Amino acid sequence: MDAERAHELSVDCLALLAGLPPVCRVLEKIGGGASEPVHLFGLTFPNRIGLAAGYDKNGRCWPAAAGLGFGHVEIGTITARPQPGNPKPRLFRYPPAKAVINRMGFNNDGAARVAARLSHQPGRGHRRIPLGINLGKSKAAHLDQAVQDYLASFSSLADFADYLVLNVSSPNTPGLRALQDEDRLRELLGAICTANRSRATQPGRGAIPTLLKIAPDLGDAQLDAVLTVVSEFQLDGIVCTNTTVGRPAGWSGTLETGGLSGAPLRERSTEVIRHLAKASQGRLPIVGVGGIFTVDDAKEKLDAGAALVQIYTGMIYKGPFLARELAKGLRKRRAAAST
Ligand code: FNR
Repeated sequence: MDAERAHELSVDCLALLAGLPPVCRVLEKIGGGASEPVHLFGLTFPNRIGLAAGYDKNGRCWPAAAGLGFGHVEIGTITARPQPGNPKPRLFRYPPAKAVINRMGFNNDGAARVAARLSHQPGRGHRRIPLGINLGKSKAAHLDQAVQDYLASFSSLADFADYLVLNVSSPNTPGLRALQDEDRLRELLGAICTANRSRATQPGRGAIPTLLKIAPDLGDAQLDAVLTVVSEFQLDGIVCTNTTVGRPAGWSGTLETGGLSGAPLRERSTEVIRHLAKASQGRLPIVGVGGIFTVDDAKEKLDAGAALVQIYTGMIYKGPFLARELAKGLRKRRAAAST
């Protein structure tokens, strides 16, 4: 089946499941329920495995994620304006390489519509697992309008987020990755942190933990510059990494343009995690993502310094219960290590 059609069908199925909370609860129980709680930026994560951004772009099916064994879920990327994304085909599977290339281009319903949808779903404090909301720049917004564009999404969606992620690393929106440059990043983080602080002064509202999602294609000096700015604004963490525009040596897949994910990304994303964990002396919470298919892969990211991990391409190849398998596997390893 066409890769994007298969994706849409799986989201439709999960959206149906999300409409049946008792069935989700039973699935959660069968899976062993909350097994290894992790406390991070004021939130409790029942386990370390999350669903990465890009799967549930419009917040349609995330309430079913706990039933599949996930300990958190990140929806989006959502942009201020609704947009159709790039022309199809734009999603390509490479089974022998356990890889995917996508150039979806932030196809999504836009912040206002997603906010309306979230207002009918379980709200903060009533969720089985934390909900992250990943924000990006609208294609129609010029790079110089990017800050205003992110701020518009922030004001529509912050009320619904357990944590927010500023995505400045998708390769499929022209100019987006330039926001990782030190000056532009400083401007963006400054504006969002100011908005977050002023929102927190309103009664009944607190600051929303905010993370930055970066590309695996940054060199060490660029990573250090990002870390400087992130520390300056005391951001709550970094999501490492998005897809890569690089192609591994000997890559035998078609040379489609777009972001490569899955097995060929694993090593590089782990290197980025290791670099940032070392440079921040382990003080910055890191969410590790890129090429996780097995318990060993997840453990590699945690050992490199990640506090949480996320999966996407692994689930495409290994099915909907990969999160449960990984969470159980990690728990077993920990139990074995402590005896
Ligand atoms: C993604 N990813 C992604 N990331 C993001 O921040 N916003 C997005 O909208 C998307 N969209 C998206 C679509 C598709 C089809 C894929 C495969 C991936 C990137 C994703 O969250 C993750 O960072 C990478 O895919 C690396 O993890 P995996 O897939 O190797 O486990």
